[in-house]
Amino acid sequence: MNVPLLDLKAQYQSLKSELDAAVERVVTSQGFIMGPEVDALEAEMAAYLETPFAVGVASGTDALLLPLKALDPQPGDEVILPAFTFFATAGAAWNAGFTPVFCDVDPHTFNVTRETIEAVWSERTRAIIPVHLFGQMAPMEDILGLAAERGAYVIEDAAQAIGAKRVCGAGHEPVMAGAAAPAGAFSFFPSKNLGGFGDGGLVSARDPQMADKVAKLRVHGGRQMYHHEMVGTNSRLDALQAAVLRVKLPHLDSWAAARRANACKYEGMLADVSDVSTPVVLEGNFHVYNQYTLRVPRRDELRSALADTGIGTGVYYPIPLHLQECFASLGGQEGQLPVAEQLCREVVSLPIFPELGEARLQQVGQAIRDFFGVEKGD
Ligand SMILES: Cc1ncc(COP(=O)(O)O)c(C=O)c1O
Repeated sequence: MNVPLLDLKAQYQSLKSELDAAVERVVTSQGFIMGPEVDALEAEMAAYLETPFAVGVASGTDALLLPLKALDPQPGDEVILPAFTFFATAGAAWNAGFTPVFCDVDPHTFNVTRETIEAVWSERTRAIIPVHLFGQMAPMEDILGLAAERGAYVIEDAAQAIGAKRVCGAGHEPVMAGAAAPAGAFSFFPSKNLGGFGDGGLVSARDPQMADKVAKLRVHGGRQMYHHEMVGTNSRLDALQAAVLRVKLPHLDSWAAARRANACKYEGMLADVSDVSTPVVLEGNFHVYNQYTLRVPRRDELRSALADTGIGTGVYYPIPLHLQECFASLGGQEGQLPVAEQLCREVVSLPIFPELGEARLQQVGQAIRDFFGVEKGD
């Protein structure tokens, strides 16, 4: 049986009539730009994320770009972000006018820590973007503490972590990803845990000024037509996407539960495979497993052995950002961020989507055991 890394068709089939009706509603209204669907999604997302403001934008990339632009960077201003993340985190920083400064990550959680950020801090640091990689939150209490001590703005990159939570200290209530810092960025790219029928994104904000600026920046810099307080862009969330996402949002928590159950089963199947490091969940975290990512030796050999039996895998990410060609002018060197570099050689993501099912999951787990030559009870 083939096991794709991700199969979106099963989810569509399970909600087909509601999704088709939502699309038809928008098409019938011919109201494609902003309007009631976008307003309603923003209200529903703000309630879900437990944050006062939610502003729909055209992509997760823009959900980073617009808050960064709102900070009005001056030449040489730096933003610290992990070297081990999707390119958009750094691309947005660059395109907003910041100099991206790459930090290393924790080898177990793959996320930034206070220490890895501190190691690259400079007097030009103005902002930090902790990325909640693969669906678990970075230690926000430490990062927000550091930012408050030294004076820097924090924007959470929660593109992969919608619905994740973290208990940020003993006796605290869990805080939702995107609601810990003054602003957060979400992506509705189809492969995300809440995915649209195309591109889409959202900025969450506790900071009213930030929410106001982003709401203006997404429509050319002014709320009133033909009045431009700042130079913005066109980065609206489509009404069609909003309508689709509104159908899916009520199911998000049950999909996360299915992903978590799959992760638990993989953990059971792979715990005795000494070559494999399964994901480590930081204490206090509720992980939503946008990706289930192992560290393994002989990663590429494992991938091709799995591919030979019809099992799809992914490598997120093969090249750390400080070594990307486009950032050569920043002077990144091999060996500079050893954990990020090592992870790029060792990580492999397995199918974890909610509809995966027991039989396909067992097949993946068994194929990995076979590759490393681990018998039952070894
Ligand atoms: C960590 C991270 N940041 C930002 C983005 C950008 O989101 P989008 O693809 O919606 O622009 C993504 C998504 O691919 C992501 O994984």
